[in-house]
Amino acid sequence: MIRTRRSVKEYTDEPVSDDDIKFLIDCARYAPFGSMQQPWSFLVITNKEIMHMLSESGKKAMISFLEPYKNTTKQTSEYLDFFKTKGRDIFYNAPVLIIIFGNKNLPTTVLDCSMAAQNMMLVAHSRGMGSCWIGNAIPALMDEKILKELGAPAGYKAVAPLIFRYPKSKTIMPERMEPEVKWIK
Ligand SMILES: Cc1cc2nc3c(=O)[nH]c(=O)nc-3n(C[C@H](O)[C@H](O)[C@H](O)COP(=O)(O)O)c2cc1C
Repeated sequence: MIRTRRSVKEYTDEPVSDDDIKFLIDCARYAPFGSMQQPWSFLVITNKEIMHMLSESGKKAMISFLEPYKNTTKQTSEYLDFFKTKGRDIFYNAPVLIIIFGNKNLPTTVLDCSMAAQNMMLVAHSRGMGSCWIGNAIPALMDEKILKELGAPAGYKAVAPLIFRYPKSKTIMPERMEPEVKWIK
């Protein structure tokens, strides 16, 4: 499962059921946590208008972030074009977005929520579902006005926006490099 999980960006029309979503969240809570508390809170969004609003806000935030660097590298200008492409949806038209929010006051919140996110992505894959972490939504999710509109829990920050749906085709794995490994024996 670990080797074959991919970040999926093309999906079929097959719906994801509420029971599937509940199962993913149930698996998330078995992740390890380092803060003596389970600092996560899950917001499930299936509302198309809300997802569209988040996508548009996310693109706007990413464009203003990247614009000053547009001539620095080819990747930056390609990345900028990605956000400027008309009709682009940063959630790849997935029907389900689950945002893991983490308690702002705990030192290991981001790590704990990321462990929970990995559980969800792996178990989704084990059930034939695709997933992708959409970091591009984070700038929009830092906007207090948007958080209020979403009813995000007070004192929590968005850590992991995750989309889920059934994959259309096989996704090619980005090359994995050999990491530097040092042993002290
Ligand atoms: C923190 C984080 C943020 C990411 N944000 C995005 C994103 O905004 N959009 C996207 O298409 N993929 C995003 N990805 C997916 C990566 O592009 C993907 O994991 C990477 O290319 C490796 O591919 P693989 O997951 O198929 O092994 C994100 C992944 C992580 C871990």
